[in-house]
Order: sequence, then C-alpha cells, then structure tokens
Amino acid sequence: MSTRQSRKLEHIAYSLKLSDGPGTTGLEDLVLVHNCLPELDLADIDLRTSVAGLAFPCPVYLNALTGGARDVTEINRQLARAARACAIPMAVGSQAAALEDAAVRESFRVVRDEYPEGILLANIGGGATVPEACAAVEMIKADALQIHLNVAQELAMREGDRTFRGYAENIGTITAQAGVPVLAKEVGFGMAGEQATQLLQLGVAAIDVGGSGGTNFACIETARITDTTPSFLGFWGIPTAVSLIEVVTAVAGKTDVLASGGLRSALDLAKALSLGAKAVGIAAPCLQLLQHRGLEALIAYLTNLKFELRCIMLLTGAASVAELQRKPLIIRGSTEQWLKKRGIDTSCFAHRT
Ligand code: FNR
Repeated sequence: MSTRQSRKLEHIAYSLKLSDGPGTTGLEDLVLVHNCLPELDLADIDLRTSVAGLAFPCPVYLNALTGGARDVTEINRQLARAARACAIPMAVGSQAAALEDAAVRESFRVVRDEYPEGILLANIGGGATVPEACAAVEMIKADALQIHLNVAQELAMREGDRTFRGYAENIGTITAQAGVPVLAKEVGFGMAGEQATQLLQLGVAAIDVGGSGGTNFACIETARITDTTPSFLGFWGIPTAVSLIEVVTAVAGKTDVLASGGLRSALDLAKALSLGAKAVGIAAPCLQLLQHRGLEALIAYLTNLKFELRCIMLLTGAASVAELQRKPLIIRGSTEQWLKKRGIDTSCFAHRT
C-alpha cells in the first residue's frame, strides 16, 4: 500500500477518534430572529437551491471524505447510498491516489454506480494538472469539480507538500478547461475576503469557505505523528461564521458561496444559509455515524436534519433559502468584533426585512 493510501486510512481513524476544535465556528455568535406569525405551513418550505448552475434538491451536501484506498470502497458505497436515500449531492475525497494507481479507482467509481442520478463532485488539489482534473471528473462522471486548498494541513503533515507557488494560476487554467463548474474549497482553516476576490477573478463557479471550528486537520496530522494533540496550528484559521461573512461580502453575489466546517445541527445550517451560503456541507459527522452506528443511522440523521432545517426556516417566516437570506440575523461577540475591525458592517443583517 502506498504512503498516500495508508494516509487516507489514518485520516479516517483519527477523524473517528478526535473531536472537533479546539476553536469554535463562531456560529454561536449568531441569532436568527423568531417569527411568531410566519403564515406558512411546513409543506410550503422549499429546500431547493442552485449552486454553480446546478439544481440542488436540497441545500445540504455530503462534503469530501475519502477514497483512494481499497479498504474505503465500502465506506464510499455506504456514503453514496445515504446521499441517494436523502437526495443530497455528494463530493468524493481527493482522487490523487486514483490518478496514480488504477487499482484504487473503484473506490471512487462505486459512488457513481450507487448514485447514478446524483449530483457528484470530483476532488483534486490545487497543484493538479488539467489532464488530471479532467480524469478525476471522468472517473465518477462528475457534475462539478472541487479543488481543495489545504496549505495548513500540508504544513502540519510530516510528509506534506512544502511548495505552494503557482496554485492561483493553476486554478485559473483548470477552471477554464475542466469542462464542468469548478468549486474552490478549504478543508477547515477558512478563507479571507482577499482570497475570495482572487478566486472570483480566477473564474471559479463557487467558493466553499471550509472554515475552522469543525474537523481540524492540523490536529489530525499532529496526532498521526505523535498520537497527541494539540497541534501548533490547532487554533489557526478563520472560524466558519467569520469566513462566510468575509467571503459573501467580498464576492458580492458575483459567484456562489458555500459553507462548511463544523456545521453540526440544523440551526448551524440555517444560520449559514441565512448569512448567504447557497448550500451547506457536512463531512466528519457523516463518517462517524456511518462507522459507529451504520447506514440506517446516517440516513436517519440526514433525514432529520432536513426536517429540522425546514422547521427553523418556518420559524423565521422563510419559505425558501432565498427568503431566509432576507430575514433578520443578529451578529454578536467575537464574530462581530472581528468583522468590525475588518471594516464589515454587521448591523445590516439585523435590519433585513
Ligand atoms: C476530509 N476532507 C477532505 N476534503 C477534501 O477536499 N479532500 C479530501 O480528500 C478530504 N478528506 C477528508 C477525510 C476525512 C476523514 C475528513 C474528516 C475530512 C475535509 C472535508 O471535506 C471538510 O472540508 C472538513 O472536514 C470540514 O468539514 P466538517 O468535517 O467539519 O464537517
């Protein structure tokens, strides 16, 4: 088994062992304003959304987790079954291993086999070539391509990359030639408004902020080396709520924004959607539920999450994701302080009607 393949298995093992954090997402600083007269029925709540021109039946998606080792084929099969049962889009994990070794391609292809009608996202790193990007898309007949940005993770990884020049230009080239919409995503350290503006100029069809407060790859990589945490980068990164507001403000509607990183409850999802995310991704909790409690438990979790999201939308008086983005939202605490220092006025969220 290659180093890359054994790393995939260790990521799964440590993700199951470690909890989120140590920092928070900042979503605890946000309050959606209750509406006691919503004049809506639960059946009125429409979860449909669109991302990068693709029609998502629901704004929740299963974010990139795994693939690239023979032992994870079964995990991907089960994740795809859960995504299909709940009609949610799904991203696969980095396909770099399968681009190197044909023997592990099945661990990705199984996702398309299980979910033929699903919206599936391929996944590669920022240093991939155009032929590699196209091969990753073709491997799972993907509807879109995620390019993951994980510099902090690589630096925390003993065997990780140490050279990161040229990624921006490369992303622009892939975006122009991939043949499917390209989404740039962080893996849990967040994005600042400045890099969102750069990505917008590079032509990406959507940006997934991948903020901090959830899965922490600095801690996972440190635990792989020493079996201890925290990591020197344990508190590094931009909390999901802060990152989302920075990115939404920076791109000003010119590209779609997605939220992920530590989204754990329907209330988290609703807050992120209200801040301007077109869709919201969840990764580690799905893997943990599947591995600890099985496929039926994962399906029940996702089904319930959709039900609770619809309830919360109703309680704000919003019948759609677009309406939720016009409902008042209070932003307090360290999230407000950060944004104020960065010149972003949060009072406009409180006064939305
Ligand atoms: C990931 N994630 C990830 N992301 C990516 O773009 N390519 C990948 O190969 C992987 N692999 C991977 C493995 C495991 C075990 C985990 C838990 C996560 C990152 C994932 O898509 C997401 O960005 C982060 O996990 C943050 O979301 P959560 O876990 O806090 O919901």
